[in-house]
Amino acid sequence: MLFNPHKLGVHKVLQHIPLNALFDIPYKAALKKAVNIADLRTIAKARSHKMVFDYLDAGADDEISLRRGKDAYSELEMHYKVLSGLKPPLDLSTKIFGMDVDLPFFGCPTAGNRMFHWEGETAAAKAAEKFGTLYGLSSLATTGIEEIASIHTGPKVFQLYVWKDRELVKEVLAKAKEGGFGALALTVDFTWYGNRERDIRNDFSIPPKYTLQQTIEAIRKPAWTYDFLSHEPYKYECINTEVPADSLAAFVNSQIAPEFDWKDAEWLLGEWNGPAAPKGICRPEDAKKAIEIGFSSIWVSNHGARQLETSPATIDVLPSIRAAVGPDVEIIMDGGVQRGTDIVKALALGADAVGVGKPYLWGLAAGGEAGVTKAYDILKVELDRAMGLLGTGTVEQLKKEGPSLIKRRGASARDYPDQYAPSRGYGGGIV
Ligand code: LAC
Repeated sequence: MLFNPHKLGVHKVLQHIPLNALFDIPYKAALKKAVNIADLRTIAKARSHKMVFDYLDAGADDEISLRRGKDAYSELEMHYKVLSGLKPPLDLSTKIFGMDVDLPFFGCPTAGNRMFHWEGETAAAKAAEKFGTLYGLSSLATTGIEEIASIHTGPKVFQLYVWKDRELVKEVLAKAKEGGFGALALTVDFTWYGNRERDIRNDFSIPPKYTLQQTIEAIRKPAWTYDFLSHEPYKYECINTEVPADSLAAFVNSQIAPEFDWKDAEWLLGEWNGPAAPKGICRPEDAKKAIEIGFSSIWVSNHGARQLETSPATIDVLPSIRAAVGPDVEIIMDGGVQRGTDIVKALALGADAVGVGKPYLWGLAAGGEAGVTKAYDILKVELDRAMGLLGTGTVEQLKKEGPSLIKRRGASARDYPDQYAPSRGYGGGIV
């Protein structure tokens, strides 16, 4: 690379000229007015370099799973009870990985948060601490375990890819334990790197390649660019602080052990010796097998629809996985969640806790900690309202009564045929 501002030390000069605040004025104002997660996405798109926004926002191939993952919730109806005697705010507390939390949802572990905003993982950890919920740290984080442990003293889960170097794995696990991480999530759906075509088209890399395309994008997004140029270059702080976090796909491909199997997972569980979930389960058989070999929880996920295209919507496979493992095994679920009503449906249909990825990252990309806080605020208020209107006052009650309160659209019409009967004047015909 001929020109690399970080190598030239440009950030050491720019960090003393605080123009970030100036460039961020419009996004701060927009953040104040944002009313839902989709608004955060719009602001994130407006502020971020195109390749960074697309990396966050994308799914694999034609993004069919990405769309279906979200749309699947709209096929589910809330058959609410009335006069339940509830009043806001509800007690939303529960347990995740056996640890007490104030909310049944949390921010999933996600890679390279500093590429979205210089506050990176620290912003997400601070917001999670504020809301008293679980924080998930990715092993591809751009903030170290120690720093996160000092920010978020509450329940934390550490996410691990299956790295080739077992010594490195042991070292990272020891560090995570020391940092107060009470649970481990082993990503099991990432043996190949998913085909994200937006990244290929954008020539995605951190730092940008300083080609004409990248430079034009950088000029168009001054708030992101100034933020990037006025801070230290980022590294994968949990894995290798020597390697700059530039080509994510190349780094992952060189470090991950795709041949890792159930026996290796057993080895890992022995090394960790604590609460753990395989993250990326989509089949009841795999869920049962995971419990048999010693995982304490199951994490139903399709990696934000970024891996195997046309994998099913997680909300659609959740009930069968709950049925397979029985009522007592903890199930965590993520995928397509962007509304409080989505969280309600997941809890009702078998999840004990719900992870969100893109919603809080859009918040982060829109405005750092304030943006992540806004994402949590929006989802918490929406969840409280949705549970109250449904007539379920606690997470426990929602989990217990949920299956009878949520019905698939169309199927519910068959349950109530008289609504559509000609005698009521609707003309009939639906059943
Ligand atoms: C991703 C990986 C790195 O989805 O988790 O991009």
